[in-house]
Amino acid sequence: MEFSELIHKRKMTRAFLRDSIPDAVLGRVLDQARRVPTAGNSQGFDFVVLEGDQTSSYWDVTLPKDRRATFRWPNLLDAPVIITVWANPGAYLERYSRSDKRATGLGQGIDMWGTPYWLVDSSFAAMVLQLAAINEGLGVLFFGMFEKASKVAEELGVPAGHLPVGTIALGWPDPSGERPGRSAAEARRPTEGGLDAVVHRGRW
Ligand SMILES: Cc1cc2nc3c(=O)[nH]c(=O)nc-3n(C[C@H](O)[C@H](O)[C@H](O)COP(=O)(O)O)c2cc1C
Repeated sequence: MEFSELIHKRKMTRAFLRDSIPDAVLGRVLDQARRVPTAGNSQGFDFVVLEGDQTSSYWDVTLPKDRRATFRWPNLLDAPVIITVWANPGAYLERYSRSDKRATGLGQGIDMWGTPYWLVDSSFAAMVLQLAAINEGLGVLFFGMFEKASKVAEELGVPAGHLPVGTIALGWPDPSGERPGRSAAEARRPTEGGLDAVVHRGRW
């Protein structure tokens, strides 16, 4: 797919077929996602991948069975793959404590960081993962773990110190079950004034 077509086609999918994703396809998607740039080449992100029946361990924690009958996107639970993304601040503190980076002071603690690059880099990886998946003809939904994040971490055996970034459901789209997200009616900026409503040239 042409890159500009991919960008313009990209949208979230909330209804999936149960059909599995071939190993080779999922492998390509994950491999492309891990190639993102990271601060100091720290590479402080991890994916926990659940396939097939394993996905129920995610849903059992985040969406108890008694709430499923009224859940707005029932076919989201059919997604054959669930990937949770985790950021690792410790990798950045370790990297920026080394001799070539020590003068930055950023190895001293996460409070030293004006921008938490572990979240930036993990988000880059999550975005590339989504684009790579769409490029394969898959649909994706990125969504939050919100207040369930610590329970998900415990269920999935995520080591202490790794921060939740979000969850990506992947699968073959089922347009017949699709229902719009709650924010679908929000207009994309800019609604008037052209690109300059978002882009500040020379000075804000
Ligand atoms: C950080 C982030 C969190 C999101 N959380 C949710 C969510 O919890 N539930 C949901 O249905 N969609 C979620 N979305 C999807 C957005 O609602 C969606 O991207 C936005 O409305 C624009 O629609 P589009 O991506 O289809 O163009 C999230 C997207 C992002 C980037």
